[in-house]
Formats: sequence, C-alpha cells, structure tokens
Amino acid sequence: MLEPSPDTLVYFENDIVPLSKARVPILTHALHYGTGVFEGIRGYWSDEAEEMYLLRCEDHYRRWIANCRVLGMDPQRSPTALAELTAELIRLNHFRTNVYVRPVCYMSSPRVGVRPDGKSSFFIVAIPFGVYLPADNGIHAGVSTWRRVEDAAIPCRAKICGAYVNSVLATAEAQANGYDEAIFLNESGHVAEGASCNLFLVRDGKLITPSPSDNILEGITRAAIMEIAQRELHVEVAERSVDRTELYIADEVFLTGTAVEIAPVTRVDRRQVGDGRPGPLTLRLRRMFDDIVHGRGAAYARWLTPVYQPVLAALQQ
Ligand SMILES: Cc1ncc(COP(=O)(O)O)c(C=O)c1O
Repeated sequence: MLEPSPDTLVYFENDIVPLSKARVPILTHALHYGTGVFEGIRGYWSDEAEEMYLLRCEDHYRRWIANCRVLGMDPQRSPTALAELTAELIRLNHFRTNVYVRPVCYMSSPRVGVRPDGKSSFFIVAIPFGVYLPADNGIHAGVSTWRRVEDAAIPCRAKICGAYVNSVLATAEAQANGYDEAIFLNESGHVAEGASCNLFLVRDGKLITPSPSDNILEGITRAAIMEIAQRELHVEVAERSVDRTELYIADEVFLTGTAVEIAPVTRVDRRQVGDGRPGPLTLRLRRMFDDIVHGRGAAYARWLTPVYQPVLAALQQ
C-alpha cells in the first residue's frame, strides 16, 4: 500500500486538518498501553455510477461505539452522525477511488500510569486503498503457533489496538514461513479466525464458521456473507467450534473481512484444500459481494451509504 499523502484531510480533535498536522504527544496513554479502539470501513468507488459507497458504515460505527464502551470510552456521536462525518471527509478529499476509513478512539492523557482517567479523543482518517490480500487464485494460510487472545484477557471482539500485537506476531510468523495469512487457534485448540479476518469452511454444501464464543471478532463481512448465503442461495450456515483438521478435509475454505474482502484459501499448512482451486460456493459469494458493494444489488442498497449523490441532489433542488 502507498503511504497516504500528508495533505490528506483528516478529522482530528474536533477539527479537519491535514494528516501532517494530526499529531499526538509521545506520552499519550494509548501509545504506551494500547488503549485505543479502532474500526475499518471500506468505501467502494463505482465508475458506472460515479459514486462512492461506504459499506455498512453505520453498522461499523455501532460496533465501534459498543467496543469503545468496553474500555469505558464514548465518542459521543451517533452512528448516523459519524457516517455523515465520514462522507464529508471523503468529499473534502475529492476521493474517486476505493478508500479505507480508519476511526480510532483512544485514551488521550499525556502522562505515565495505566490508571484510566476518562479522557479520550478520536480521529477518522480515510485513505485510498486497493487490494489488501491478492487472492484471485487463492491464498496459502498457515495455522499459527500463537494462540488467539482470550476474551478474559484482552477481548478480541472489541477491536482494541493493543490486542493487535497478537495479530502482528502471527502475521510475522506466517510471512517468515511463506504463508499469505495466519490462522489462529484459540486456547481450547479450536479454529478462531485469521490475523485480520474471519474464516469459513464449506463441507457437503454447508457453510461453517467459528462461533462468537470461540474468540473471534464478530465481523460485519462475516454477517453479510451469512445473510447472503442463507437468503439468496438457501445455503445452511452453522456457527460452531471448528477443529484444525477440518481445515484439511474441507471442500472449500475462505476468509472474510473489510480489508481482505472474500479471499479463497486453496492451501492450509502446505495441504491442498479441495481441488486446490477457489471453490464454487466461495466464488459465487465473492461475485455477489462484489456486485452488492459496487451498488449493483438493489436488495442490499440498505448496506450502502452514497457519498456524493445526496449533496448533488441537494444542490439541484
Ligand atoms: C481480527 C479480525 N477478525 C475479523 C475481521 C473482519 O471483520 P469485519 O468484517 O467487520 O471487517 C477483522 C477486521 O476487520 C479483524 O481485525
């Protein structure tokens, strides 16, 4: 990924400023103790419609607000207001390409000491963003020797900045071993998720995905895929614990997430998955998802926040 331009306009400390001017003191609590909560939201540019669609933007902000509360923080904005602020930020930057939006709420006191004091701040950055994990031909995933953080230690469902050290360690190990992505087992030895994505298996035409109590982030893409599979394809979906060896005998495996989108996994731990090519159900869901996010699936328009249209419509009145 390219580094974003320092002139990119960002929302920081209740203001819109260039990225180069958005700075925090080096004693900031979150920098030392990982006490931030973040989100990742994609905006899809459609050449056809000359429009940018933010995908499930309010759902992401709803999750963010709930997760901030886990750490005792509150951005004090509604999901609708945050979605509107995000759209405005994109308009100010005149982006006409796919973007990734990164809101972070963090404990902001510049001092030493873990004791939280109720002071927090948040920023929102939107940057041009392409393919995160090239996966057209399928990727190779490896089960990590690092275990997923436990909910009773650092809840991974809360997207807490500090918890991502777990993902960084697993990703570094996966890279060193020649894998494209890591797969975490949890402390009970069941499959949890990828380092930055959820995981699905296909067995006998049914979709299986680890359940929320298996130490996963409850992904919004995961929920979207479950909904599309059930409603549009009448495919049965089971949320249950998954054994490591089920990855080896599955017909298909794929990963889902805002950054990775829908990524077919064609090898796990140097073993071929299915026939070693992206599976038919994975490809079908991937195509449907691609149509929906680019505004070509009328039934799912409710998942999209158009960025430019509302303002153009208002100007024409
Ligand atoms: C650890 C982890 N799991 C799963 C996901 C997928 O969640 P979502 O689909 O909401 O982006 C993400 C990231 O976004 C993640 O960081």
